[in-house]
Amino acid sequence: MEYFVKSGNPEKQRVSCVIVGIYDRRTMSESAAVIDGVSDGAIAAVMRRGDMDGKLGQSLVLHNLPGTFADRVMLVGLGRERSFDDNAFRKVNAAAARALRQTGSIDAVSYLTHLPLKGRDFHWNVSQAAITIEEAFYSFDDCRGEKAKEELPSYKLERLTFDVPRRSDLPAGERGLVEALAIAKGMNVAKTLGNLPGNICTPTYLATSAEQLGAAHGFKVKILEEPELRKLGMGSFLSVARGSVQPPKLIVMEYLKGPKGEKPIALVGKGLTFDAGGISIKPAANMDEMKFDMCGGAAVIGAFRALAELALPINVVGVVAASENLLDGAANKPGDVVTSMAGITIEILNTDAEGRLILCDALTYVEQTYDPSVCIDMATLTGAIVVALGAYPTGLFSNTAGLTRSLTAAGEQIGDRVWEMPLWPEYEEHLKSECADIANIATSGGNGGGAIIGATFLHKFAKKMKWAHLDIAATAWKGKRSTGRPVPLLVQYLLNAAAKRD
Ligand code: BES
Ligand code: MN
Ligand code: ZN
Repeated sequence: MEYFVKSGNPEKQRVSCVIVGIYDRRTMSESAAVIDGVSDGAIAAVMRRGDMDGKLGQSLVLHNLPGTFADRVMLVGLGRERSFDDNAFRKVNAAAARALRQTGSIDAVSYLTHLPLKGRDFHWNVSQAAITIEEAFYSFDDCRGEKAKEELPSYKLERLTFDVPRRSDLPAGERGLVEALAIAKGMNVAKTLGNLPGNICTPTYLATSAEQLGAAHGFKVKILEEPELRKLGMGSFLSVARGSVQPPKLIVMEYLKGPKGEKPIALVGKGLTFDAGGISIKPAANMDEMKFDMCGGAAVIGAFRALAELALPINVVGVVAASENLLDGAANKPGDVVTSMAGITIEILNTDAEGRLILCDALTYVEQTYDPSVCIDMATLTGAIVVALGAYPTGLFSNTAGLTRSLTAAGEQIGDRVWEMPLWPEYEEHLKSECADIANIATSGGNGGGAIIGATFLHKFAKKMKWAHLDIAATAWKGKRSTGRPVPLLVQYLLNAAAKRD
């Protein structure tokens, strides 16, 4: 598939399909009205017959409309004009994309990008349309057998053009398209790594994937193996990996295209390729979903792919702590005490709170090695964030108000939103251990606020740097499918960071 941005009249397009919108109650969008005008009221006639009334997500394909050059005109229902918002915009683009692929169309021009939205511009419209359509076209079939793969549908669609109203909108639209395609490709990387099962996507597989992407797209990748991790003193990270035959990997990525000597932005991801809970084993129901426990790491890798494609003039380092959390004679036991790279001793009271055990050492590594300008970690850290915030936002914790603001703004811009949670000193009290410096779960204060307790634990390892923690347990996958979040958030944040510097 190739995408373009152009500006032209809908009735003059010589393509397989022209896509225009119809609001609920049979109100035509401007482009639909133009086609209706040149075709002697063909659209109005169809609507009178009741085949299209503009309900959100509806679509109808018309052939050979008089006065037009396209083989087809697709009408797409937009819902109520007054409630046409960002979500509706995404829905209609996805619906149009799916319907378009069901036709024999080879090329198409969409006028859905003309639709006005409060507070948005054509850069946003084109970018969101492209991301949404790439999402609609994504499917994960790597694990089907050869026969089934051969029988997968093939589609004819090759070219899709987003139309903008004026030639002066072209530069904004084109920038939006370039950014969107980089984001979408980064999301696809993250999605596929997430969707791959635990027996395939091991720590070693994650490391190899990062290396291959680095080689293909021009960023440096270094893999730290167990002996080096031991030398660094990562007793906490290594204690989790000890319960598995899969060797742990610390994946370190460097993209340094900014000014020499400028402190890098650090991205840190939880790459737990399968979380059975360890000796504090999880219940069987839906445990398969714990293959997604590496989605934080996958997002860092996906963001690097996007970053390299966009060639942003900034310095960014990425660190993914990759391990399994299984049961074994050598695995962590409740009550075990380990020493982290920071020298802080940790009493492991629940082996299922392993994300913080691997991330604390990754945070210390980043702080000591890179002295980053800011550090953003992301992890499917707690089931409690799902309880606290539900399905839509990623939970955000930060020790720096400016970073909270930048991440919140980036999320709003790109439609990958975060919501701030508290990091008050009161919570630190609850991590007191009888025998070590800190416990890995709350030892007082009851079971409430589990996501905050997890973030409070990590905070102890990010005392010297500007830091934010993203709990993506509710947003990294939906049902049994990876979403590719928070790649859009990260890339938008990096785009904004690069823009601020020019
Ligand atoms: N990976 C899980 C968090 C998780 C659980 C994400 C369910 C999405 C759905 C994490 O390692 C974990 O097990 N956390 C525990 C922490 C608890 C033991 C303090 C949890 O959330 O139950
Ligand atoms: Mn766990
Ligand atoms: Zn986990």
